[in-house]
Order: sequence, then C-alpha cells, then structure tokens
Amino acid sequence: MKILVAEKIAQKGIDTLMESGMEVDVKLGITREELLASIKNYDAIIVRSVTKINEEFYEHATNLKVVGRAGNGVDNIEMDGATKRGIIVVNTPDANTVSAAEHTIGLLLSSGRNIPQANALIKDKKWDRSKFTGVELLNKTVGIVGLGRIGSLVATRLQSFGMHVIAYDPYITDERFKKFGAEKKETLAELVKESDFITVHTPKTDETFGMIGDEEFKIAKKGVRVVNCARGGIIDEAALERALKNGIVASAGIDVLVDEPNPVSPLIDLDNVVITPHLGADTFEAQDNVGLTVAKEVIHALRGEMVPNA
Ligand code: NAD
Ligand code: MLT
Repeated sequence: MKILVAEKIAQKGIDTLMESGMEVDVKLGITREELLASIKNYDAIIVRSVTKINEEFYEHATNLKVVGRAGNGVDNIEMDGATKRGIIVVNTPDANTVSAAEHTIGLLLSSGRNIPQANALIKDKKWDRSKFTGVELLNKTVGIVGLGRIGSLVATRLQSFGMHVIAYDPYITDERFKKFGAEKKETLAELVKESDFITVHTPKTDETFGMIGDEEFKIAKKGVRVVNCARGGIIDEAALERALKNGIVASAGIDVLVDEPNPVSPLIDLDNVVITPHLGADTFEAQDNVGLTVAKEVIHALRGEMVPNA
C-alpha cells in the first residue's frame, strides 16, 4: 500500500505510517499538476485544509481507497465523490479542539485590547498609550454561534472571565446548552442583538456561509467585537469590512479567510483587525495529536479495520 502525505503533519504521524510497513511519500508543497499526475499511484492521501479533494481530483485518483484529513473540518473534501467511489474519508475531529478554542480566546483578547497593534508600535521603537485603550470581558455578553466541540470549550473558558454566555445552535439539545452554562437563543437575530462579542464555531456549509452579514450587522450592538476561528466566510468578509469601517464592529479577530492560502482579503489592511494565517490548530500538542490520529486511522482503513472517525 502506498500513502502520499501532501501537507505537513507531525513527525510522530510520519513515523507511525513508516512503522506500518506501508510505503510513504512525503511531498509537501506538491503542485496541483504533480498531484493530479501522480495520485493514481497511491492508495491513500493525507491532507490538511489546502488540498482540494474534488471531482477533478477523484477522476485522477483511480486507485485511491482512503483520504485522511489531518484536522477537523472536511469542507475541502467533496464527500459525495468519495462515497460514490467507495473511498473512505477519515478525519481527527477531537485532536485539535482545545488549541482552536484557546486561539479563539487569544484572538478575542488580543483584538479587544489591541495587543498586536501595540506590540508592532513599540517594536518600531515608539511609545504611545493613547490609542490602544481596549475593553474588559467582565460582565460582557458573548454570543457563541455553534455550541459543538470548540464552541463549548470556548463557552466554559469565557465564563471564567465573568462573561455571560449566550449561544445559538438549532441542532443540539437544551441539555447541551445547560451543560456548558450557555443561555439558549432561539434565533441568530436574538443572539446578535444581545452580544458584545460574537464568535462563530459552526462548520462551513451552504447554511452557515455568510450567516453573519449585512443584515446581522444592522441589528448588532454598535461596537460589537467579532471572532472567526472556524472557517473563512462564515462571517461575510465584505460585510465585515463595511461594519468595521462604519464603526458598527469595533474589532475583529480572524484566523480564517475565504480564499486560503492566499493572504488576500479586504480585512487584512484594517487596523482594527487582528489576523492570523489559520493557526487555530497550530500547537505542538494539537499537531502531534492530529498527526498520530490521522496516521493510525489511515492505516486501519487501508487494512480494512474499524476506523472511529470514518
Ligand atoms: P462541531 O461539529 O463539533 O460543532 C459545530 C456546531 O455547529 C454543532 O453543534 C452544530 O450543531 C452547529 N451548527 C451547524 N450548523 C449551524 C447553524 N446553521 N447555526 C448554528 N449552529 C450550527 O465542530 P467543531 O469541532 O466545534 O468545529 C467548529 C469549526 O471550527 C469548524 O468550522 C471547524 O472546521 C473549525 N476549526 C477551525 C480550526 C482552526 O484552525 N481555525 C481548528 C479546528 C476546527
Ligand atoms: C481543522 O479543520 O482541523 C483546522 O482548520 C486546522 C487545520 O486545517 O489544520
């Protein structure tokens, strides 16, 4: 069996693949053309979020049996195409959630207190305390959209800052809201109206793409602060740009863009945006966990054994 590792995973994962006795090629930064030309030689591929596993890819992947997604979201993988060809898709939904939740809070704090902007100023050997005044979290309301794995970790952590947590998630039980100390909101509009901070933690789907846009910013509190550490475009980028410029949104913490990995977005140049290049899962702990988990899953799947996250 031959496995292609097309994006970076932790060495622990590579070692596990090697120890399985299967043939492993690590080709980081492989071009699309090279990938399409060579994928017929592989039984499995491991990717993160950049490689598009779509119809064009499947047409070339004539021997493929397994796609391993080293991470959580599978929005770069066309599931129907895999299903109709009997290709198993495995991912690591629990391996990086703590890191993503911690990064969310990092973005919320750093954008709310202008930490990166102040850091850049003093690194430039300038001293100015006047333009970086921020806001406290204590007694503020945070609206969490999507109270799943990461949303729930964010909820419990923000309660320790003394925040009032409200959440909108039409797909979970009332018990789940209670379990994580979040007041349930029946509609997104209710959540938007009441929040001082909004953070989105849904998957990217047709329903969630652009779910926070012009309509929501019209009804939001003036000076609301937003965070997107989920997927680019869940908060509409153009609408957010307008709201940041007209003062409806005071600041944004952004980890994900619509068009990754290109650093192209109207948000990048705005002073009230703190932005990172999809670093939510980039901790040593999460990457070890993700790499090891995806490697084991791909091996199990190729051997026809039970796979927990297939
Ligand atoms: P999850 O599946 O555990 O939770 C998602 C929640 O969103 C679920 O409870 C679901 O019911 C809810 N939801 C779905 N559609 C909704 C809608 N229309 N309105 C409100 N709620 C809705 O997912 P997760 O593991 O918590 O991941 C959340 C997001 O974070 C995903 O987009 C994932 O890809 C992303 N993520 C990003 C990073 C990063 O590096 N930035 C790392 C890990 C995960
Ligand atoms: C994920 O879906 O797990 C994250 O976005 C992180 C990643 O793609 O590595």
